[in-house]
Amino acid sequence: NIAYPKLKPNEPPMVSYWIPVLGSAAWLGIDPFGFYKKCQKEHGDYYQFLLLGKKMVTCLGAEGNNFVFNAKLADASAEDAYKSLTVPVFGKGVVYDVQNSVLMEQKRFVKAGLSNERLQAYAPLIVKEAVDYFARWNKPFGVENIYKASAELTIMTASRCLLGEEVRSKLDESFAQIFHDLDAGFSPINFVFEDLPIPSNRLRDKAHIKMRNFFLDIMESRRKSGTEDRTDIMSYLIKQCQYKDGRRPTDVEAAHMMIALLLAGQHTSSTTSAWAFIFLAENPHLFEQLRKEQINILGSLDAPLTLENVKKLSLLDNVLRETLRIRPPITNMMRKANRDIPIPNTNYVVPKGSYIQAVPVISQRADQYFDNPEQFLPSRWDKYDKDVKVKDDDLVDYGWGAMHSSSAKSPYLPFGAGRHRCIGEAFAYLQIKTIIATFVRLFEIKLHKGKFPNSDYTTLIPQPINPLVDYVRI
Ligand code: HEM
Repeated sequence: NIAYPKLKPNEPPMVSYWIPVLGSAAWLGIDPFGFYKKCQKEHGDYYQFLLLGKKMVTCLGAEGNNFVFNAKLADASAEDAYKSLTVPVFGKGVVYDVQNSVLMEQKRFVKAGLSNERLQAYAPLIVKEAVDYFARWNKPFGVENIYKASAELTIMTASRCLLGEEVRSKLDESFAQIFHDLDAGFSPINFVFEDLPIPSNRLRDKAHIKMRNFFLDIMESRRKSGTEDRTDIMSYLIKQCQYKDGRRPTDVEAAHMMIALLLAGQHTSSTTSAWAFIFLAENPHLFEQLRKEQINILGSLDAPLTLENVKKLSLLDNVLRETLRIRPPITNMMRKANRDIPIPNTNYVVPKGSYIQAVPVISQRADQYFDNPEQFLPSRWDKYDKDVKVKDDDLVDYGWGAMHSSSAKSPYLPFGAGRHRCIGEAFAYLQIKTIIATFVRLFEIKLHKGKFPNSDYTTLIPQPINPLVDYVRI
């Protein structure tokens, strides 16, 4: 028997499913892209499905993206959608454990810590980490797991630049274990159920305390030795920033913000750089082009990879932009409806208590917007407007120091849009481009046995499964 929940009049159509509690979970865990496309074909840009008992209203296309990203605060909340997943990992008093206006201020702190001046200081640190790391690939040729390399390099570079040299110098096995246990808290099950008493959640809670204490100890020792003034974000959080009411973040809040940053940037950047390497390994002719670009634009393959120089590498920019089009690390961006919300230009109303989600990867891979959408073609960005804006209207300031278009009517939104938009984009671009620019000076890779890796869709951020590459030192 197929059981359907009773729908209110005007609710978006419900996707049929066979197992009452599970709903569409099984299909989503195997082939989410196929699932969303098939349902879109059947029902259009707005439909809902049941996921472990929760109603998920899916909003597709540029208009659907805009509906979710620009939902009014009174209508829909990211905090309510994400808090069961994030608060036990990040800790209290930050991100989704505070009112939206406080989150906007906290984003302002971090955004200032990622200023152009600071990014300039980070560039040589990233180069040094990358050169040291790739010195480990010391044979003339060999086979390596490119996701493992990307993940290790991401945590080394992000911790060195953002969290501070003490954190970087302590990235040993015990830190890796703490990170692993904390990270395991980011499991889809914790999105669905609040604080389940399962062993992984107990490990997560212990790891949270250890990580927080680890940051608190560093803050204390910096104060004692009078060395708080650094270029990293820890220094900015404990020394300079202030809420609008004059209050300074407590050390615990600062430690929780650092945990949030570490986790927000780790899987997003590491899977993106891994997929970029995988696409390059599938298209090895691009290595030669990337080297030529450095010689033509920067003068030689020995030119320093400064922020300004890295910004000039537009083919490399396009490689990253195209990777984020086909394999964005965050595929579903969710909000919870605080009240019934009518969907503009339709007869549908989202019922209070449901989740609404944007899935921009569907428009990013739709032939309505991109020719041969499944093909990895960095050169397509030479002719597209980089932001693929449908409409650019008034600019708004969400309070974190950057002006953004009030419209999110774009088919291409790997960093989201609106008040919850990513603030790590410029850092991620610098980090990933610098790592790849360093790599192409040293190696070429191709897919091991020509095998393009599959994605693991059971994790919140889909990761490549065992992506082996054959490398040759040049
Ligand atoms: C938010 C993507 C790297 C910090 C977001 C969102 C997306 C995203 C899609 C919006 C989520 C939503 O609307 O629900 C990415 C991608 C990255 C990346 C694709 C790398 C390739 C980073 C890094 C940092 C960071 C490196 C920190 C240094 C944040 C923060 C938010 C955010 C603080 C705001 C959350 C909110 O306001 O609710 N990111 N991110 N991200 N990201 Fe990133």
